[in-house]
Amino acid sequence: MSLIPRTLAPTPVASLQEHLDLGGGRGLEVARRSDPARVIAMIEESGLRARGGAGALCGEKWRRVRAYGRGAVVRSSVIVNAAEGEPGSFKDRAILWRNPYRVLEGALIAATVVGAEDVVVATKRMHTVVNRRTNTAIEELRAAGWLEGIDVEIFEGPNEYLYGEETAMLEAIDGRPPFPRIVPPHRHGIHEVASRSCAVDEVDDVGASTVYVELAGPGSGSIGAPTLVNNVETLANVPAIVVEGPQWFRSVGTDESPGSLVCTVTGATRHHGVGEVPMGTPLSHVIESIGGGPAEGRSIKAVMGGAATPLLTADQLDTPVSNEGMARVGARLGCGGFIVFDDHDDMAAVAEGVARFLSVESCGLCVPCKEDGLALTELFGRIRRSQADDRDLAAIRDHLRTIDDGARCGLAAQYRLVLQSILDKFGAELAAHVDGTVPAASPVLVATIVDINGSRATLDESHRQKQPDWTFEARWSGKFPPERQPAAVSS
Ligand SMILES: Cc1cc2nc3c(=O)[nH]c(=O)nc-3n(C[C@H](O)[C@H](O)[C@H](O)COP(=O)(O)O)c2cc1C
Ligand code: SF4
Repeated sequence: MSLIPRTLAPTPVASLQEHLDLGGGRGLEVARRSDPARVIAMIEESGLRARGGAGALCGEKWRRVRAYGRGAVVRSSVIVNAAEGEPGSFKDRAILWRNPYRVLEGALIAATVVGAEDVVVATKRMHTVVNRRTNTAIEELRAAGWLEGIDVEIFEGPNEYLYGEETAMLEAIDGRPPFPRIVPPHRHGIHEVASRSCAVDEVDDVGASTVYVELAGPGSGSIGAPTLVNNVETLANVPAIVVEGPQWFRSVGTDESPGSLVCTVTGATRHHGVGEVPMGTPLSHVIESIGGGPAEGRSIKAVMGGAATPLLTADQLDTPVSNEGMARVGARLGCGGFIVFDDHDDMAAVAEGVARFLSVESCGLCVPCKEDGLALTELFGRIRRSQADDRDLAAIRDHLRTIDDGARCGLAAQYRLVLQSILDKFGAELAAHVDGTVPAASPVLVATIVDINGSRATLDESHRQKQPDWTFEARWSGKFPPERQPAAVSS
């Protein structure tokens, strides 16, 4: 199966001139001289779905931002979400590294049609190499006159996982620690909600979880326009849709998930890497074509889509990589980062690694998310060390039942999705640790990818030392991140 280079350039595009020579720039030209409503309709007709993890329809969000933003005193902004903190994902940095001009062009098209006055590329301080490249590209666009009327800047935010969550990102851009807000950004943007309590007042119906809150209608009296937050890959798809049209975009992929997907494959495969495939490609083909399949003599046991979705087992490897394909087997597409485990991997250790990553990165604004998460880390750790008993397994089930009650953001549900699937699918393996028939296993690090150099990914080893208060002190202070001074939040 061949890879298709639609949004991930096959080789790095060296300059703005090379981008233009390859046909770049035409999308922005078309958008600038077209009726914005027509451009939004094209994005809607293309069926482009969010590539940052949620899979929502992109055009619908653009239409909402444009409609709510009209007449606002403070104009809208477009935020390019380049945080890429999901374990197992490296595609956004690969896309930006290979062709930052295409992403910036997509963001400028979005800004043009939703009526935004600025674009912020929200990246992380740790992405030093990609940040330099993006900065150079922005300066080239400025020199070429592309930025008249819409400014573009880069914001290098903290390394915290939560910073990638869109409302936490707006908090960080506004100079505060990355703690999620309740109201989604396409309702209220940066420079607008000064405190979380004022956001709460504008929510129609909080319900069981604020993640699924219904949006308030337009005309709430706000002076600020909503903000459009889109993932790097989502925006990288935009210029070609505008130039080639929605039907061209739909010529690969499936009806419900049109286009291509840039996937990252790491873990127990021959090599690690990033590649672009048509939506709907079987997962086994993705693992084979990007990762080279399992190592000699090994077999794949499970595949995990970041620390965010239920795991797939060996008998589910023919699952199509698409939103609906994953949904049919009870999983989610996420951001297309697949971490592969083989018959040598210990699933209790994987569960502990996921629980540790999420519980350290949880901010603790919702107490169950932090406290139950830390308890789950301890419980899965006992299982991994073969020191647990049946009461520990029962306690795990209890914690998972309530961990995302009233959660402010999507992180809390991730524990349940991932860990419940390990309990359901690898229960016998966990039970073997509990009854002592298998010995203690080594811990598994679940952390953000720092780089894919050559054919191996390097993970963020420093996460082993990160404490639940987001410091790297020798001991945990016992506090949650919001109880500390904002200045102390790690960077
Ligand atoms: C805990 C958490 C972390 C997230 N991290 C990222 C991230 O690193 N990059 C990203 O694009 N989206 C991330 N998201 C999703 C964003 O909140 C948001 O859905 C996305 O930026 C919207 O862009 P899209 O519609 O183009 O996908 C995260 C969500 C959660 C709950
Ligand atoms: S769900 Fe977890 S990470 Fe999200 S706001 Fe609540 S405590 Fe913080």
